[in-house]
This record gives sequence, structure tokens and C-alpha cells, in this order.
Amino acid sequence: MTIRFGVIGTGAIGREHIKRIQNKLSGGEIVAVTDVNQASAKDVVERFELDAAVYPDDKALISAENVDAVLVTSWGPAHEASVLAAIEAGKYVFVEKPLATTGEGCMRIVEAEMKHGKRLVQVGFMRRYDSGYVQLKEAIDNNFIGEPLMIRCAHRNPEVGENYTTDMAIHDTLIHEIDVLHWLVNDDYKTVQVTYPKKSKHALEHLKDPQIVTLETNGGIVITAEIFVNCKYGYDIQCEVIGDEGIVSLPEFQSISFRKNATFGTNVLNDWKDRFIDAYDKELQDFMDSIKKTGEPNGPTSWDGYIAAVTADAAIKAQDSGEKEVVSLVEKPDFYNQYQTI
Ligand code: NAI
Repeated sequence: MTIRFGVIGTGAIGREHIKRIQNKLSGGEIVAVTDVNQASAKDVVERFELDAAVYPDDKALISAENVDAVLVTSWGPAHEASVLAAIEAGKYVFVEKPLATTGEGCMRIVEAEMKHGKRLVQVGFMRRYDSGYVQLKEAIDNNFIGEPLMIRCAHRNPEVGENYTTDMAIHDTLIHEIDVLHWLVNDDYKTVQVTYPKKSKHALEHLKDPQIVTLETNGGIVITAEIFVNCKYGYDIQCEVIGDEGIVSLPEFQSISFRKNATFGTNVLNDWKDRFIDAYDKELQDFMDSIKKTGEPNGPTSWDGYIAAVTADAAIKAQDSGEKEVVSLVEKPDFYNQYQTI
């Protein structure tokens, strides 16, 4: 069985996903595309030689008979309407983050999915598929470091453009830590606080950079996450989990080491796309394999999308207030407890 995808949003990541489904992964094909910029949708069909129809909008694409699953890679504010329409039509959905831009929007999706009665939605939080994070998770689950007490992590980019604003440090950057860390320690967030160290001279005037986000979980784990998007030296993701019996750290990105000119060194990546390239492949392959095997996707759920949105909202509030803000999650519905997600 081949899963026939309709793609909503043929921009940067939409194109990357189309290429991997068509050329690299097994069990899927692109049969439909749409974009508010119709020229982009047509260009994708031509450029990638797709046997796919171009639809005028998301609704028309979703209702196409031959579309089994919808890939939502449009701009964040457009995600909610497309995901709700896909659930209404009973179609599977792989949606890039954010699931929706507000906690309320995510809750509408959660409710629609529960009403449908089985899982249809997977959110593109790909870090859970990264082999380094998978190894950390296994070590923690196997009690290798005892009880996790603290997590120290960093998300560093060499530089960002003029359109990157202070709140994007939460919505676009920290959002990946928000998802992967609660999954890693199987706990939920209680509070969040943001502080601003001395500002980097490389940060543009409108941007506060770096930022330190402190998250506290219900179980008492304290997480400090450094967001530094003008660090200059490269794209660098760090994560260290400190337990009462030991410490585990995310492996460094694999690269040759060298000895040259009286230096012993190794390379650091420069482009974020390269760091999680395998994880992007694995998340979509798992989406297809799991649907074929069980009739439902297996990766991050709508509930995970809700957790991320509510936590990000509290972090944005904390950016302005300087105070410790409460992350107010409603109780997890039983529906989502039945799923042992990756
Ligand atoms: P982009 O701007 O390159 O592409 C978005 C495309 O969606 C554009 O072609 C735009 O015309 C189209 N679009 C917007 N609204 C639409 C609508 N209502 N219906 C149909 N098409 C619509 O943006 P990019 O970088 O591809 O990001 C897309 C989404 O993917 C964003 O939500 C972003 O946060 C997420 N993303 C996730 C990443 C990850 O690491 N998981 C990495 C990069 C992006």
C-alpha cells in the first residue's frame, strides 16, 4: 500500500519533505499540492516531475478522493484550519510545528481528533527521532543516571536575519527543546522564567540575544536552556542531563577530527538543516510505516502540540514580565494516555 500525500504549502520545508517522500523514503507518493502562491505549487510539480494535481486551496486538496494523508507545511497561522479540515474528512495529517499558534487552537484540534475516535495527526517535532536524543532517552528510561535532577542545554545559531525577533527565540527556536525535553524525562512543565544576560554585540538592536530560559517540571527537575542565535561559530545543540547517579550528554555531531598547524580540532556545523537531516527522514518514514502497520501514526501527538503551544505562550509572557510564569496545562485526556509515542 502506498500512502498518497497532498501537500499544503510548497515553500522551503514543504519542498524538502516532497523530495524525501518521492526520492528517498519508501511507501509514499505526492499526488496533490497547493499553495496560496499558486506559481510555487506549479513550479514544484514541474521541478520535481511530480504526477500531482495542483489545487486552488487546502479544502479542495483535502477533499480529493485520492489523497490519503495531508502534509501541512504552510505558515504557522494557517495550520489549524487545514488540520481541522483534514480531521473532519478523516484523513491522516503530518503537520509541521506549530500544530496551531495558540493553546486554544491546539485544544480545538485535540477535541476534533478525540471526537474522530482514533489518532490521525502527527506533529513534526523531529528531534525525538534523532539518534542522539534516542540514546539519551534510553539511558534515562533504563535508570542509567538514576533520577534526573537538572538539564542544561543550549541552542545556538551562527546568526539570524533582520526579521528574527525576540519572541521567535521561543516560538521558532526553543520550541524544539520544549518538545523534546518533556518527552526525554517523561514529565510536564510547571513554570518558566526568562532572563537576559549581557547582550551580544552581534545582535541587532531590536533583538535580545542571548536569552536564558529556566523551566521547572512538576517532578522538580530544573532545566536551563540557553538560546543564542548570533553565536557566530556555528549551529550547535547541546544537552546534558544530570541525575543523582551520573550524567548523560547528547553526542556531538559526528565529524572527522584533525591535527594540523599545531591544532587538534573537529568541525562544527553551520546550517541547522544538516544537523537533523536523518531525523526528518525518520519521522516521515515512521509516519507512513506506523499508519500501514497500526492504522494510526506513532510520533508526537496533537497533545504534544498543545503542550508546546501552552508552554511557549507562558515563556513569551515570561519574556515580558521577567517573572516565573505558570504553565497552565489542562489534565491530559485518557485518549492520549493509550498511546506510547516515540
Ligand atoms: P516558507 O515561507 O518557505 O513556506 C511556506 C509556504 O506556505 C509558502 O510557499 C506560502 O506561500 C505557503 N502558504 C502560506 N499559507 C498558506 C495557506 N493558507 N495555504 C497554502 N499555502 C500557504 O516557510 P517554511 O520555512 O517552509 O516553514 C513552513 C512551516 O514549517 C512553518 O510552520 C515552520 O515553523 C515549519 N518549519 C519547521 C522546521 C522544523 O525544524 N521542524 C524547520 C523549518 C520550518
